This record gives sequence, structure tokens and C-alpha cells, in this order.
Amino acid sequence: MVLINSLGPCLDIDIETGKSLMGSKTGYGWMSGPAIFPVALGAVYEAYKHVDIPILGVGGISSGREAVKMIMAGASAVQICTAAILEGPEVYGRIARQIEQYMEERGLESLTEIQGLAHKSQRQEDLRRWQPAINPELCTACGRCAQACVYQAIKIEKYAVVDEERCAGCGLCITRCKFGAITPKYQD
Ligand SMILES: Cc1cc2nc3c(=O)[nH]c(=O)nc-3n(C[C@H](O)[C@H](O)[C@H](O)COP(=O)(O)O)c2cc1C
Ligand code: SF4
Ligand code: SF4
Repeated sequence: MVLINSLGPCLDIDIETGKSLMGSKTGYGWMSGPAIFPVALGAVYEAYKHVDIPILGVGGISSGREAVKMIMAGASAVQICTAAILEGPEVYGRIARQIEQYMEERGLESLTEIQGLAHKSQRQEDLRRWQPAINPELCTACGRCAQACVYQAIKIEKYAVVDEERCAGCGLCITRCKFGAITPKYQD
């Protein structure tokens, strides 16, 4: 099974002329490359729960990092198209070397050791039982996390403070912090 393909139809419009900026006859395009990686990763992760055949992960892989994530989501192998178009066939050797380096640094003999790891590491009950934890030593009180929290669960005092009653566990604050000051804290 191969997951996924490009996504679309999609469109962009020239705001001076109102015409499509895509080059096709219909005016539509199909999206590929890094923008579709999270969709592809989610699809592979979900499929791995339900099928017992090899899954080839494809969509937005441009480094060893994404390839490893695909394997952890359950893929047996990965496919790369857009990155090869943009960078040339050297991309395959580069990504293979990056995967090798990753394995060497962690003492891995085979990628099968990490295949599907995300399913073992992230149990469904964990998803329901975490809160963001702030590291006061790393927090600069910049306020980016509080600004992004639509649940108004973060107040900035000397550093960011999370109101665990208000927090819905959406995880957005973690992605906003440039200082690595927020990490998930799982409850037992
Ligand atoms: C220029 C281009 C042409 C493509 N042509 C095909 C095709 O003929 N058949 C197909 O199944 N997928 C085609 N794809 C989709 C790719 O095989 C791949 O599934 C998709 O681009 C996502 O992977 P990527 O982000 O690594 O490019 C094409 C993609 C691009 C960018
Ligand atoms: S985004 Fe990070 S550094 Fe900024 S206030 Fe929030 S936790 Fe602190
Ligand atoms: S996880 Fe979501 S709801 Fe909770 S504090 Fe962060 S942004 Fe707010």
C-alpha cells in the first residue's frame, strides 16, 4: 500500500489579474512537498493500525528526519518525488546517509527496530492525559505561547504559567515556543 499522493485540486490566484497562477489547462494544481508531510504521516500512522501489509510512506519527505518519522509511523519504506525534482537524484544518497547517521548515533542495526515505534510510544490514554510543562530556566516570558492559546490557559508572570483547568491539551503552545521551554508532561 502506498500512502499518500499529491493533494488537491488546489489553486493560487494572481491578485492583479484574477487568473490562476497554476500552469495546467484547468487552472488547478496538486500540492506536494513539505506542506503535505503531516497529512502523509497521519495517513501512514492510521493505516498501520488497520492493515497487515507493507506501507510505503510518501509525501513531503526531504530529509532523513521525515523518513525516520515515516518508519516510526509504520512505513516499511519511503518514496521521494518533489525533493528529487528540486535537488536532483543526489537527494536519495543524501537522505540514505542521514538515515545511516541517525542509526549509528543510536546504535540501531536495522530500521525494523523503530518501525511502528510511534504506536508503542504514544498510547491513546497518553493523548488524553498530558499538560504542557514550562521550564522557568528556559522561559524568557516572551508571551508567544499565551498569545496562541485560545483557551486563555497561559498567563505570563515571571515566566509562563499554565492553568491546568483551562488547558485543553491542544499542544499549540509547544509549537510556538522558540526556546524549548514547553514540553509535554504526562500524568500517570
Ligand atoms: C511533477 C509531479 C508529477 C507527478 N506525477 C505523478 C504520476 O504521474 N502518477 C502518480 O501516481 N503520482 C505522481 N506524482 C505524485 C508523486 O508520486 C508523489 O506521490 C507526491 O508528489 C508526494 O510526494 P513528494 O512530496 O515526495 O513529491 C507526481 C508529483 C509531481 C510533483
Ligand atoms: S513561548 Fe516559551 S519562552 Fe515565550 S513565554 Fe511561552 S514558554 Fe516562555
Ligand atoms: S496545550 Fe493548548 S490549551 Fe493547553 S496551554 Fe497550550 S495552547 Fe493552551
